[in-house]
Amino acid sequence: MAEYQPAETAFALDRDCKTLGRHVLEQLQSFSPEAQDLSALMGRLALAGKLIARHLSRAGLMESALGFTGTTNVQGEAVKKMDIYANDVFISVFKQSGLVCRLASEEMETPYYIPENCPIGRYTLLYDPIDGSSNVDINLNIGSIFSIRRQQGEDRDRSGQDLLQNGHQQLAAGYILYGPSTVLVYSMGRGVHAFTLDPSLGEFILAAENIQVPGHGPTYSVNEGNFWQWDDSIRDFTRYVHRHDGYSARYTGALVADFHRILLQGGVFLYPATQKQPQGKLRLLYETAPLAFLIEQAGGRASTGSQEIMAVVPTHLHDRTPLVIGSTKDVALVEAFIQDKPPAIPRHHP
Ligand code: AHG
Ligand code: MN
Ligand code: MN
Repeated sequence: MAEYQPAETAFALDRDCKTLGRHVLEQLQSFSPEAQDLSALMGRLALAGKLIARHLSRAGLMESALGFTGTTNVQGEAVKKMDIYANDVFISVFKQSGLVCRLASEEMETPYYIPENCPIGRYTLLYDPIDGSSNVDINLNIGSIFSIRRQQGEDRDRSGQDLLQNGHQQLAAGYILYGPSTVLVYSMGRGVHAFTLDPSLGEFILAAENIQVPGHGPTYSVNEGNFWQWDDSIRDFTRYVHRHDGYSARYTGALVADFHRILLQGGVFLYPATQKQPQGKLRLLYETAPLAFLIEQAGGRASTGSQEIMAVVPTHLHDRTPLVIGSTKDVALVEAFIQDKPPAIPRHHP
């Protein structure tokens, strides 16, 4: 009897079967309790992404989905309704999951505990529910950033002290980018992988596996409106790129979107110290450490300018760090300026 031959549609079917859930299990190569936990965690994160994407796609049609709440968060930043919606989505999807005892987010002063999970919930989720909030009301790119850490100790006094450790303690990290399509990018320490949401299936389908950031790229991404608030070294870096061919400025106001471009095409994103924010704007546990985890997995680098981001140990939950992240060569160039070893600017340049 002749062996069955799949039809020509098999390629498309194979692609559609490469779901996030299947990929995570393949990555883990084990059915150990921890592998099953991580797989369930990723499934819940995907659900959070789908819920937020759905809400965003209709936000302009709904009463009271957009705009400010009128309050400020622990960072002193004006809170948008979407920040709160997304913050609560993550809490809801992890309730009764048995996976996560604590969630720490930039929108909450102290971690949120799910007491019924705490006897068994061995993980903590750290997240930025909406990254790029200034883009929300104008229908531009925004994201969510997440990081998973193993809970150490019982944290009976609910101080979250064990979270004050470096980025190497992260088990997994990633982000969801809400753009023309919804994309989820994650790493569990075995490469960086991207998935696109197929809304008709309700599944994230593999789009790119083992992403490697180019060693150098054309993009520099920084808010040059802060020029006069920067240290001289950062001003000199921007003068350098202005005077050299091959650089292009891109800045969306959403770190996730700017990072995604650089991950795929190379270049450097920076949010350096400013006079108003001497530690920069971005938060270590919810923003810079998760993206540092990803870029290192993709063969790039993340630095404060003088230290690897992954090595930074916070003193407080909401600590900020300056950030220089992207292609190794471009990060090194920015560091050279910061460390007072800039390359020579050719004479014929103005
Ligand atoms: P968030 O919306 O979570 O507060 O983060 C906004 C961050 C980041 O996404 C972006 O790169 C940066 O803030 C933009 O800040 P500026 O407006 O100061 O450039
Ligand atoms: Mn953010
Ligand atoms: Mn945010």
